Amino acid sequence: MSHPLPLLPLLLLLPVVGRCQTGSQFDVCRSLRSSEAGPGWEFYACQPPQANMKEVMQIRVDPPGITCGNPPERFCTLENPYLCSDECDASSPDLSHPPQLMGDRERGGLITYWQTVTWSRYPEPLLANITLSWNKSLEVVDDIIVTFEYGRPTSMVLEKSLDKGVTWQPYQYYADDCLEAFGMSPKRVSDLAPSNLTRVICTEQYSRWVGAKEEKIVVFEVRARFGVFAGPKLINIDALYTRMETMKGLRDFFTFTNLRLRLLRPALGGTYVQRDNLLKYFYAISNIDVPARCKCNMHAAQCVLRDATLQCECDHNTSGQDCQRCSQGFKSRSWRPGSYLPLPKGTANTCEAAETAASAGDSNTAASDRPSASSDGVTDTTTITTTTTDSTTTDSTTITTTTTDSTTTDSTTDSTTDTTTITTTITDSTTIDSTTDTTITTT
Ligand SMILES: *[C@@H]1O[C@H](CO)[C@@H](O)[C@H](O)[C@H]1NC(C)=O
Ligand SMILES: *[C@@H]1O[C@H](CO)[C@@H](O)[C@H](O)[C@H]1NC(C)=O
Ligand SMILES: *[C@@H]1O[C@H](CO)[C@@H](O)[C@H](O)[C@H]1NC(C)=O
Ligand SMILES: *[C@@H]1O[C@H](CO)[C@@H](O)[C@H](O)[C@H]1NC(C)=O
Repeated sequence: MSHPLPLLPLLLLLPVVGRCQTGSQFDVCRSLRSSEAGPGWEFYACQPPQANMKEVMQIRVDPPGITCGNPPERFCTLENPYLCSDECDASSPDLSHPPQLMGDRERGGLITYWQTVTWSRYPEPLLANITLSWNKSLEVVDDIIVTFEYGRPTSMVLEKSLDKGVTWQPYQYYADDCLEAFGMSPKRVSDLAPSNLTRVICTEQYSRWVGAKEEKIVVFEVRARFGVFAGPKLINIDALYTRMETMKGLRDFFTFTNLRLRLLRPALGGTYVQRDNLLKYFYAISNIDVPARCKCNMHAAQCVLRDATLQCECDHNTSGQDCQRCSQGFKSRSWRPGSYLPLPKGTANTCEAAETAASAGDSNTAASDRPSASSDGVTDTTTITTTTTDSTTTDSTTITTTTTDSTTTDSTTDSTTDTTTITTTITDSTTIDSTTDTTITTT
C-alpha cells in the first residue's frame, strides 16, 4: 500500500517482457501485482544473466614447471623453423607468459598469452593441464572458445567437474586423428540427434594443421547443441527450455564447477616431429571464453562476487550458494528448483513457511500445489508448436505430468530432501531413448 507509484511502470512493462522471445525471459523473480485485496507479490522462475566467466576464473597450470621463462628460453615458429626470434623470460614483464594471460582482456589489439616450455624432452610427451575453477556451479549458455597462438594442439581433451574438482568426466575429445589418439571415430555436433545430444564425441574439426594464423580456435559447441532443439539461430528457445526440464541429464550436461584442458600433443605443422628443431613445438593460449550463468536453481536473478566467490542472490525464500535449500524458518522439505514450465513464465516453486507446512502436513507434495500441473503444460506447449516453423519441435506434442517417487527417477544432482517430486515427461520416443543414452552424467 505504501508504494503504488513504482508499481505502475512495472505493470506496464510486464506484457512486453512476456512477449519477448529471448533474453528478458526469466529475468525477474517477482513483481508486484494489484488485486482486489491490494498489491501483492507474484513470483516467477528466474535466472541470472549470462556473463563471460573468464573474468572470475581461477587458473591453475600443471605440472608446475610447464610455463616458459624459467630459465629463459628461445622459440621458433612452425611456419618458418629458422625464425627463432621469440624469447620467453619469466623475470621480464615484457617477455613473460604467465597463466593469467589466458583470462585477461586483450586491450588495444595487443594479444597476450600463456606459453609453455618447448618440447625439448621429446620423445617424452609434452603434457599440460589447465584447470579453470569457479567454486560455483555454472550453466554454459554459449560456445566455449579457446584461442591458441602458434597452432592448435594435435590432441587434447576438455573435461569438466560438477563437484568442485572431486570427480571429473570428459566433455569433448579433440584430435587430428581421433581413432589413433583416442580410439574413437570422429564426429561432429551436426551428427548428433535429440536422442544422443549429451554424448561425448571426438572431433577432428579443430585439430588439423591449416597454418598457425588461419585457424586459432578450439570450440566446445554449445550453440549447435542448443540448436538441435531450438532450431538454427535458436529461434525457438522455448523448445530448448522445455527439453531442459523434461530430458534426463540435459541440464547437467551444460553444468559444471570446473573445466580442465588436458593438452596431450602440440601442433606439429606437419605429419612428423622434426627432432632437430624441437624449439618450434609448444602450447600458447591467448584467451578462453566461457559464456555462462550461475546455476541458481531458478531462484535468483542476480549472481554476485562475494568474498571472492560467486554467490546467487536468492529469492523465493531459498538460500545457499546455488539457492539449493529453503531459508531458515521455511519448510526444508518444500524445496524444489524453479521450473521453465509452463512457458513462458515458468513456476517459482517458492519455499513454504514452516508454520503453514506443519499445519498443512504433506500438502506440498500434491500436484495442486504446483501451477505447472498437466493442463497448463499441455496448453503452453501446443502454443509453441503452432508458432514455430522448425522441425525439431514437431515431436513435442504432448506433455504429461506424473507424480513419482524421487528416489527412483529424480535426475537432479542436488541433494534435495523432498520425498516426492513431480517429473514431467515428453511422451515421444526420442526422449525416452535419451534416458538410456546419456553418457556424461551416468559415468
Ligand atoms: C592432468 O590431469 C590428469 C587427471 O587428473 C592426470 O592424470 C595427469 O597426470 C595430469 N597431467 C599433468 C601433466 O599434470
Ligand atoms: C567456495 O565456496 C564455498 C561456498 O560459498 C565457500 O564456503 C568457500 O570458502 C569457497 N572456497 C574458496 C576457496 O573460495
Ligand atoms: C545420434 O543419433 C543419430 C540418430 O539416431 C545417429 O544418426 C547418429 O549417428 C548418432 N550420433 C552419434 C555420435 O552417436
Ligand atoms: C518469504 O518470506 C517472507 C516473510 O518471511 C515474505 O514476506 C515473502 O513474501 C516470502 N517470499 C516468498 C517468495 O514466499
